[in-house]
This record gives sequence, structure tokens and C-alpha cells, in this order.
Amino acid sequence: MTRRVDLRSDTVTQPTAAMREAMAAAPVGDDGYGEDPTVNALESRVAAILAKEAAIFVPSGVMANQMAVRVLTSPGDVIVAGANQHLVDFEMGASARNSSVQFALVDDADGRLDLGRIVEIVDAEADHRAHVGAVALENTHMPSGGTPWDLADLEALAGAVERPIHLDGARLFNAVIATGTSAADFAAPATTVMVCLSKGLGAPVGSLLAGPAALMQRARVERKRLGGAMRQAGVLAAAGLIALDTMVDRLADDHARARRLADLVAAAFPESNYDPTTCRTNIVVFDHPDARTLVAELAEHGVLAGTLAARRVRLVTHVGIDDEDLGYVADVLGRRRR
Ligand SMILES: Cc1ncc(COP(=O)(O)O)c(C=O)c1O
Repeated sequence: MTRRVDLRSDTVTQPTAAMREAMAAAPVGDDGYGEDPTVNALESRVAAILAKEAAIFVPSGVMANQMAVRVLTSPGDVIVAGANQHLVDFEMGASARNSSVQFALVDDADGRLDLGRIVEIVDAEADHRAHVGAVALENTHMPSGGTPWDLADLEALAGAVERPIHLDGARLFNAVIATGTSAADFAAPATTVMVCLSKGLGAPVGSLLAGPAALMQRARVERKRLGGAMRQAGVLAAAGLIALDTMVDRLADDHARARRLADLVAAAFPESNYDPTTCRTNIVVFDHPDARTLVAELAEHGVLAGTLAARRVRLVTHVGIDDEDLGYVADVLGRRRR
């Protein structure tokens, strides 16, 4: 039987046995009344990790991002963001639909945003341009291949732009492990921070939005408006607590395997000019003239990859991928070359 190696995303993982046990045993209550002790514990825990006053548990990263947009902006505002960020390109136009905002896009092809350009956009308000309500960043920056931010760049941005910063930290813990910068230090320059438990940390469901207490009070109202208020959600939060306890340090393994995968990709597709040293966390993104056909070919051998565009392939390592899987991928890619 063909082996199946699923590299489409770090969201394809199964909850660990410890997560399932904790979910079964979790004390719960009605979170609508603030009475779910496990949700409350998770929210306090994440607020402490990010050194923010409060955090709110939500079903998805998109919802947390959308709540942040609602509380940081007014209709007609501009959000400055990297052109390929999730908030811009992968949320089905939700910011326009939910908050009536528009984006001013900054090139983010290599995962870095030009500070000078952001300052220019904010400055353009003086020349009859729309008000910039917020700057949105992504750490790690998924579309460039999981690029972590340098803390100094984030701090420079926060110092130069007097606007709230929203940090999409769907993979913030990958950035923490790759750089040695703490989650709290990464969060400090931002007003609001979103983190996901359901990506590299392997929980089945859940993200949190963190920030100042007064703003998070308003964000709770937005969660309700978006239909994201839950009841005995402690059964989900319990898995999130186990994810934070047991799944952060092991991200280093995913990063090491992604780097090996990056070397395999560079060797198998020299025409892609892919530089494997750009792979610093758990994501390999490379160009290929016919990405969809390549992905279909790999799938025939049980290696599941994804496309970000017609000429862009993405491979993601996670807790469900081991060294044997990588050996198998090496065989499959090696056979293509012969
Ligand atoms: C960078 C980034 N932000 C936000 C999200 C949205 O998370 P969710 O799928 O939980 O809505 C994702 C999902 O993959 C992501 O990669």
C-alpha cells in the first residue's frame, strides 16, 4: 500500500491522547455567563504568555482576526498589511464584508515589510487619503514560507507608526522556537495579538485574541455578533491547555524536518531556484511552472502537498510527520529526477 504523507498543512493533525483525556475530564460551565473554568484558565494562561491584560477564546483564527479588525478600525478606514497575508488574501474578503475597511498593501514577498513604505502610507493622510486604522502583521509570515520576524524590526515599526498593530500569530510559537524571542516580547509592540492552537500545536479547535482589557470587552461583543460565543467550550479549551504544555518545544523537530524537506525540494527542482536556507520554521514554499500538475503527481505517490497559486507549491511539517515520512518523500522526489 502507498504510504500517505500529508504535507498540505499543519492543521491536518490528530489530537494527542493527552488532549483527548483532558477533553473528556474537563470541568465545564456556560461560557456565556463566564462560568467555564477551563475556558477561563486557558484565557488567563494565554494572556499571561503574551503579557496582555486579557484574552478571548474563539473557534478560529479568522474570527480572532476579524474581531481585531472590528475593534481597531471604523468603516472606511485603511489597514496597512503585507499583500499576501492571511487577513488580506485568505479570509474571503471578510474585513470588507464585516468591517467595511480597505487595505493598503505593502510588498511582502520575502516575509519582510518595508518600514519606509508603511510610514509613507500613514503619512499620506495629510494628502487627503483615508485614515489608517491599523497595521496588520503576520508572524510567522506564512506565504513567504513561514518567515519569523526579527524583534528589532517589529519594534522599529511600532516606534515609527503611531497606529495600533494587530499581530496575526497563527504560528507565533513557531517564531518563538525559531528565534528564541519570547511570545511576550513579540506581542509587546502589538495592541492585539491572535494565536492559534490548531496549527503546529495540534489542538483540534481554537484560537485566542489578546489585548488590553477594555478592548477585549468590546471584542467579546464582536465575537457574539460573529456567532462565535460558545457554551461548555471547556471541552475544547482543555485540549488547548495541553497543546501549550506539551506541543511548543517540539516545534523544533518540525523546523528541522522542514529544513530537510527544503533541501530535498531544492535538489529535485533546480528550475525553481528555491533557496532552502530561507526555510526557518515549518513551511516550504517554492515556485513551479505547473504547481497543480506537480501536486497531483505527488498525490499519486501518497505525498500530499498544497498550492498557494498556479505556480506556487506549499509543504508544511507538523506533529504527524516523522523521519520515515521524510525518507519516503526523499524516495518519491528522487524517483522524479531519474
Ligand atoms: C497566518 C494565518 N492566519 C490566520 C489563519 C486562520 O486560522 P483558522 O483556519 O483557524 O481560521 C491561518 C490559517 O491557516 C493562517 O495561516
